[in-house]
Amino acid sequence: MILVTGATGKVGREAVEQLVGLGHQVRALSRKPEEAHLPAGVEVVAGSPADPASLTVAFDGVDRALVVLSGDVAGEARNVAAAAAAAGAEHLVLLSSAGVLHPLPHGIADEHRAAEEAITASGVATTFLRPGPFHANTSWWIRTVRENSAVRCWIGNTPGAPVDEYDIASVAVVALTQDGHRGASYVVTGDEVLTSEEQARILGEVLGRELEFSVAPEDEVVEVFAGLTGDRAAAVTNVAALRSPEVPWGKPTTAVRDLTGRAPRPYRAWAADNAALFR
Ligand SMILES: NC(=O)c1ccc[n+]([C@@H]2O[C@H](COP(=O)([O-])OP(=O)(O)OC[C@H]3O[C@@H](n4cnc5c(N)ncnc54)[C@H](OP(=O)(O)O)[C@@H]3O)[C@@H](O)[C@H]2O)c1
Repeated sequence: MILVTGATGKVGREAVEQLVGLGHQVRALSRKPEEAHLPAGVEVVAGSPADPASLTVAFDGVDRALVVLSGDVAGEARNVAAAAAAAGAEHLVLLSSAGVLHPLPHGIADEHRAAEEAITASGVATTFLRPGPFHANTSWWIRTVRENSAVRCWIGNTPGAPVDEYDIASVAVVALTQDGHRGASYVVTGDEVLTSEEQARILGEVLGRELEFSVAPEDEVVEVFAGLTGDRAAAVTNVAALRSPEVPWGKPTTAVRDLTGRAPRPYRAWAADNAALFR
């Protein structure tokens, strides 16, 4: 039995569908099973990685798990590690972040490093997936594109190699179901190096209209992040790291090709699949 946490989200849902398609028995963890709408045959357990009691139920009889965390990533990882160890699980594939390799100290890196350490301390075999920015992050632009054909970018315009959620899920599925990935860590990126402005241009081409692009000033973004999280110091370091020319997702890696045997999906494909959201 393979458990997927965060199973209704961007990466988890893709992973569940791919695992079911390959004939694996899948259990999914969701706070709202009645709204999960996962494929037939998937056993949905109510709960979340923030709730240790639900993890005890979810891990019963599970040998492998894709661990996707939201919210207090480090605390949730400690909960997952304890439940997986107690259940005698054999392999945990953690959706971490390329941020752990960033040379600038910042909160996102710290919480994912703490999550990796907690999962390692479980004693269960691990694989760490460290993606750069997801293609779906451009969903942040939906409202302004719809209303004004405008993109106001919060994360700056540093070149990076964004990756499709489908590809991260595919890498996770290979790591979970094929030999040779226990103990490994993969930086998972797309093939193309793009700035946010170039993504906005591609999105505009797909939508058939030009989008006006601008980068929000750093102090304005810090205020927005601080307002969302209540942690101004973390907002300052996170925004600086995301805008730094030293981002560790600046160069494409071969992880998607190496594990799946195919090329990563280009951003244009994500934009075409999701164009209706922006119209
Ligand atoms: N976006 C990026 O560029 C990026 C890059 C690198 C790493 N990551 C990491 O990827 C992970 C997120 O993956 P994802 O985008 O696939 O997940 P997601 O879609 O944001 O969320 C996955 C599921 O978690 C549950 N959830 C959402 N918010 C929650 C909260 N506050 N507390 C508890 N449960 C919550 C929801 O499931 P239910 O409602 O069904 O419970 C949701 O469907 C994070 O650890 C993030 O740091 C993201």
